[in-house]
Amino acid sequence: MKRHEDLFAKITRLKKERNAVILAHYYQDPDIQDIADFIGDSLQLSQQAAATQADVIVFAGVHFMAETAKILNPGRTVLLPDLEAGCSLADSCPVGAFREFKKQHPGHVVVSYINCTAEVKAESDYICTSSNAVKIVNSIPKDQQIIFAPDKNLGAWVMKQTGREMVLWQGACVVHETFSEKKLIQLQTVYPSAQVIAHPECEAPVLARASFIGSTTALLNYAVKSENKEFIVVTESGILHQMQKAAPHKTFIPSPPNANCACNECPYMRRNTLEKVAACLETLEPSIDVSASLRERALRPIQRMLDLSV
Ligand code: 13P
Ligand code: SF4
Repeated sequence: MKRHEDLFAKITRLKKERNAVILAHYYQDPDIQDIADFIGDSLQLSQQAAATQADVIVFAGVHFMAETAKILNPGRTVLLPDLEAGCSLADSCPVGAFREFKKQHPGHVVVSYINCTAEVKAESDYICTSSNAVKIVNSIPKDQQIIFAPDKNLGAWVMKQTGREMVLWQGACVVHETFSEKKLIQLQTVYPSAQVIAHPECEAPVLARASFIGSTTALLNYAVKSENKEFIVVTESGILHQMQKAAPHKTFIPSPPNANCACNECPYMRRNTLEKVAACLETLEPSIDVSASLRERALRPIQRMLDLSV
């Protein structure tokens, strides 16, 4: 308790001195969520990054998120508490292979999930997040062929929602792929009145068991507003912190992964710690850099997404 109080005081002091803002994703450790100025899903965090007037942005999330914030804010310092906080989806889509994939599908418009590198964003026509992917795809003329990258599960779900055929890059999230349909069924027998709510990065058999599917913010809002009192939550377990805070009288059960592990915690997101948040505010390192030419090309599809999301 003492350690946290000291660190909270230090971070609060440094934040003021640096004129910094802390943006945190729901998949961060609860103590990081508690010290953040804003907590949100990927879209909301991009919108906050686009709107901030702070000199320094501490992005308590993963690399592609901080990189997106830098693309939106070339003049501000953007810090990622741990530079190794990557993402399996971004890793699944190296830009060289992606360019080849595009060549094999000429005439296609490219919609990329925000969970990709700046280089892949620069090869894309639209960026989307899990909360606006359906809207973005629906905004594209019906006769236009589409490549969707890099998440095959989100892509398949969007195809179902929109009725559009898309060519899918075969990437997946290591966390959401780990949820087991078998264990979910077992859990449903223990909690028969619990509603299953799931993130669209999960595989189709898991999604088929869900009463509600949406981004982390959509899952949180649904759970708070729903008449139901018990929920099995099929996404990274960090979101349960805000669910429990917003609806303390309700029961939230984290969906179990396939193995006996903590695999429902993102190993990348969880690299950030309160200590690293304090350290980056102190040293202004590690900071994110994006070259001007890459920034210019990557900004276009991000801006298109933000304009379509107001
Ligand atoms: P959202 O923030 O859109 O819910 O996506 C979750 C995620 O996996 C972020 O990496
Ligand atoms: Fe990437 Fe999955 Fe972690 Fe999100 S939860 S950052 S998609 S590995």
